[in-house]
Amino acid sequence: MANASAALDHADDPSIQDLLALRPWLKYDVVDGLLMDGVPLAAIARQAGTPTWVTSAAVLRGRCRALADALAATGLDAGIHYAVKANDGRAVLDLMRREGLGADVVSGGELRKALAAGMPAADVVYSGVGKSAAELRLALASEVGQINVESAEELAMIAAIASELGVTARIALRVNPDVDAETNDKISTGRARDKFGIAYQDAVALYRHAATLPHVQPVGLATHIGSQITGLAPFRAAFDRLSTLIVALRTEGLRVAVMDCGGGLGIPYRNEPVPTPAGLAAVIKGAFHNLDVRVAVEPGRWLVGPTSVLLASVILVKQTPATRFIVLDAAMNDLARPAMYDAWHGIVPVSAADAARPVFPATVVGPVCESSDTFARGRALPPLGQDAVVAILDAGAYGRVMSSTYNARPLAAEAWVDGGHWCLTRERQTIEALWDGERLPT
Ligand code: LLP
Repeated sequence: MANASAALDHADDPSIQDLLALRPWLKYDVVDGLLMDGVPLAAIARQAGTPTWVTSAAVLRGRCRALADALAATGLDAGIHYAVKANDGRAVLDLMRREGLGADVVSGGELRKALAAGMPAADVVYSGVGKSAAELRLALASEVGQINVESAEELAMIAAIASELGVTARIALRVNPDVDAETNDKISTGRARDKFGIAYQDAVALYRHAATLPHVQPVGLATHIGSQITGLAPFRAAFDRLSTLIVALRTEGLRVAVMDCGGGLGIPYRNEPVPTPAGLAAVIKGAFHNLDVRVAVEPGRWLVGPTSVLLASVILVKQTPATRFIVLDAAMNDLARPAMYDAWHGIVPVSAADAARPVFPATVVGPVCESSDTFARGRALPPLGQDAVVAILDAGAYGRVMSSTYNARPLAAEAWVDGGHWCLTRERQTIEALWDGERLPT
């Protein structure tokens, strides 16, 4: 009975076939099993071991171009700053640079990574609610294109450091428009109670003040209301408020050249309907087309989310009176999203024979010693034997970057698929590396 009710709870889950239909870069071959762009994932699992992240370069390139095309089609002067936090792998940043994207960074570490990947500093925007003096010094000395300021207190820090360095800080004010992005509470950022941005009612006065500071040049406004946004209405509401602000600033004779629209565009983890880049671009155009501003977006998830899978092997299948537990060798320390946000990720077998078998409900877990280490409950999956490999889908955004070594589990290996070949882009961390840098007290 427990199994039957779990199945009912999840009756609207897409089937394995439905999941793959929306992800045409993943296909079954009867002999080789699940292929990513023609490369057998079983071969990668065999040679690299599991857990291993696998990324399709072709899908990533395609998404960069699709987003750029959608913006270009609006006729707006528009730029893309990839939100590095979503996936800061070297291979990913290198591809983004080759595709001509800039970067949105939120720490000195991300700034250094973007610069090391060859991103021109002028194409880097530095966001974040708490930039330390050392990080601001690094950003100003590197001459990043724009710093998005989140408070009056931060503006004062920037003004002081810029004058000490004898440089001019190009800043935008990140405005909190008090709009509910209608997404998970933990990733909503644009409501008045959230820590982000400058209160809407304070923005004009602070911009006016910024324009009086000798080493500060206010270039425009920024906003970012949240992540995994699955409707256009919240974007529309936020951008309308921002366009009102631009008009108010201009009425005072203040110059506003840039409107940074943030990230947040959602992806269909469960095949749910989500807006397209063209839909978002149309909303941006609707709000700003007659204001003569350069617009920019800062997407992370939309660009990288669907590009990767996390390969994991079945350690064992544990049957209790109530539940079939499939225990994987990947865990919450690798992919934290299900544990942190109850996020739903597709899970499909790599063997084509397994994928063709009848399904029944299972709870898919990792070996970590807490119950939050659960990837899925009541998920319709075929019987899977020991060592069967599964692919956890849409793991490219907020996957590897949020990994930890909890339970002394080393960071997973990473592989890259391109042009029908694959290679390792990150070795699996060694066990010894887990205590690198640790010292006994003297
Ligand atoms: N710009 C700013 C200022 C941001 O804070 C973020 C994400 C982005 C852009 C990119 O948003 P995206 O396009 O990726 O939605 N770890 C969470 C997501 C946290 C998002 C944080 N900020 C998750 O796994 O769902």
